[in-house]
Amino acid sequence: MTVSLESYVKGLPKAELHVHIEGTLEPDLMFELAKRNSVEIPYSTVDDVAAAYSFVDLQSFLDIYYEAASVLVTEQDFYDLMAAYLRRAAADGVRRAEIFFDPQTHTGRGVGYDIFMPGFLRAIDDLEGEVGISAGLILCYLRHLSGEAACETFREASAYHHRLLGVGLDSSEVPNPPQLFADAFELARVAGLRAVAHAGEEGPPAYVTAALDHLGVERIDHGVRSEEDEVLVGRLVESEVPLTMCPLSNLALGVLDRLQDHNLKRLMDRGVKVTVNSDDPAYFGGYIADNYVAVAEALDLSRSDLAQLARHSLEATFASWEDRAGWISELDVYVAGHA
Ligand code: HPA
Ligand code: ZN
Repeated sequence: MTVSLESYVKGLPKAELHVHIEGTLEPDLMFELAKRNSVEIPYSTVDDVAAAYSFVDLQSFLDIYYEAASVLVTEQDFYDLMAAYLRRAAADGVRRAEIFFDPQTHTGRGVGYDIFMPGFLRAIDDLEGEVGISAGLILCYLRHLSGEAACETFREASAYHHRLLGVGLDSSEVPNPPQLFADAFELARVAGLRAVAHAGEEGPPAYVTAALDHLGVERIDHGVRSEEDEVLVGRLVESEVPLTMCPLSNLALGVLDRLQDHNLKRLMDRGVKVTVNSDDPAYFGGYIADNYVAVAEALDLSRSDLAQLARHSLEATFASWEDRAGWISELDVYVAGHA
C-alpha cells in the first residue's frame, strides 16, 4: 500500500538537530503566558501576530523573537514550552531531539539558570516517559554579544554542565565570525561537551570554515552558503560533518526566494551529510515533518531520498552508539515495510 507523502514522512523515525526552544513559542501559549505573568506584548489577536511575522532577513526575525521571549518568566513557563514542543515533535516521528536554548536571552532580563533549567529538564524527563522521545540540550551563545560574555554564560551554567550535550552559536551571523567565540568553545570542550555552530546562513562560506577550524564543531547549522566554496564542500564530504538545514526557515528569512532553489538535494547528491530540521517552527510555518514535505515537493525528492535524510539525522545525533543503532534499525524496518 502506498501511503501519502505526509503520512510517510511522519512515520519515518528521525532526529531533530536544529530547533530553538524559544522558536517553538506558539501564539496561543504566548498569549497564555503574557496573561499569566502580566507581561505586555504588542499583539492582541492571532491576526496581529501573523501580520508581524513577515520577515525580510534574519535580523527582522530576531528582533521579534527576542521580544516574545519576555513572556517566559517562571519555571512552569519553561516547562510548558518544552513539553509542548516534545509532544509535537514526537507526533512528527522524532525519536531524538537535540534542542538549542539561548540562556542570555533570559539571564539578560533577570531570569536565571535556576528558573529555566529545572523547567526544561523536568519537561524532558516527563515527556521521555510519556511519549518516548529522547532529548538533550545545547546551550547557544548569542553572537551579537561578546566572546567574554559567552565565557561568562558558560561559567554561570556550571551547576548544569553535566546536563548539557554541547554548546552552539546563534543570533546575528554577520558581522560576528566564529573565531570571536573560540575561548567560550574551548571552555566547553574542556568540560567534555560537544560543539555545533550556525554558519553560512547569511554569512559567507569562510564562516563555515572558521567554525570548523576555530571552534572544532561537529555539525554546521544551516551551512547553505557552503556550496559557494568548492574546497569547503569537499571538506564537508570527506569529514562527514553534517549540515542541519531548515528549508522553511531559509524561505521565511529570504536566504532564498523559492524553495525550488534550495541546494539541499544538490549537496546531498555530492555526498554531504544533509539533514532537515525546523529551526523556529512557531515563526516559520512548520514543524519538522512540514519541512520534509515542503522540500520533497519543491525538489521532487523520492521516498528513498527522504529515508536517507532521516538516516543522516539519526547518524548525526550526539546520542550513544547503542541508541543510534536502535533508531537506525527502526528506520530500516520502516523503509522495508514501505518498499
Ligand atoms: N539563525 C541565527 N540565530 C537564530 C536562528 C537562526 O536561524 N533562529 C534562532 N536564533
Ligand atoms: Zn537556527
